[in-house]
Order: sequence, then C-alpha cells, then structure tokens
Amino acid sequence: METEEIRHLLAKALEARKNSYSPYSLYPVGAAVMAGDGSIYTGCNMENVSYPASLCAERNALGSAIADGKRDFLAIAIIGSPDDYTMPCGICRQVLAEFRVPLIICGKSENDYRLYTLEEIFPAAFTADELKNE
Ligand code: THU
Repeated sequence: METEEIRHLLAKALEARKNSYSPYSLYPVGAAVMAGDGSIYTGCNMENVSYPASLCAERNALGSAIADGKRDFLAIAIIGSPDDYTMPCGICRQVLAEFRVPLIICGKSENDYRLYTLEEIFPAAFTADELKNE
C-alpha cells in the first residue's frame, strides 16, 4: 500500500476518534478500514457503564463495512493515544482474522505509524478450517 493511502487511512481514523464515546477509560480510539474496492469505513470505541458491553473502534469500523456488503479488505488503521502505537486487542485480532484483514496500521499520528501483517500479530489463529469435521 502506498504511503499516501496509509496516511489517508490514518487521517480518517483520527477523524473518527473525535466521535469516540469513552467516558470510562478516557481513552479515545478511531479506526478506518479500507475494503477491496478502495472504499473506507470508520469507527470509534463505544463504551458502556456495563463495561463488557463496550465495543472497540476496529470492530465498529468493520461492522459498518460488513453492513454495507463488503467482505474483503486491504488494511485497517488504528489511532488511540498520540503517545502509543495502539495495538488491536485480542478480540479485535480474532475479528480481523475472520475477514483476513492483511495489513494493520497502528498510528500515533498521520506521519508516525507502524505496519504489521495479521500473521505477525495473530499467528496460529483459530479459523473456520478448524470447524470442518471429517
Ligand atoms: N480500544 C479500542 O477501541 N481499540 C483497541 O485497539 C484497544 C482498545 C478501546 C476499548 C476501550 O474503550 C478503550 O480503548 C480502553 O481500553
């Protein structure tokens, strides 16, 4: 993926972070996922007073894309704190694996980011292959 596209995706994640609903953690996160056709869907974290009911930015972004009929993806960008490269949580990694999102862009800002492959951050994943009974 071109640097310009990476920066654009990070900019979208940053924009989405502004809408984060995170009154409990005070840790706003934004995410932007690019589908195979180049379209972009964004999400932010959405917390709940019943903490486990909270949703991460990545799964909200992917949910919007899925609801719009998208099934294949090129990359996802995530921005949390400007001091850290926010990494997807374990549950989000499982969801990223479900849709084979190949490239994970973890940013502090549009210009400061790290790139990871899904395989790198989630090796030996539990996949649908495991469910096939012989
Ligand atoms: N969070 C995300 O939205 N994405 C991540 O990759 C890490 C964590 C959210 C969940 C919670 O609302 C807040 O960040 C603190 O954990």
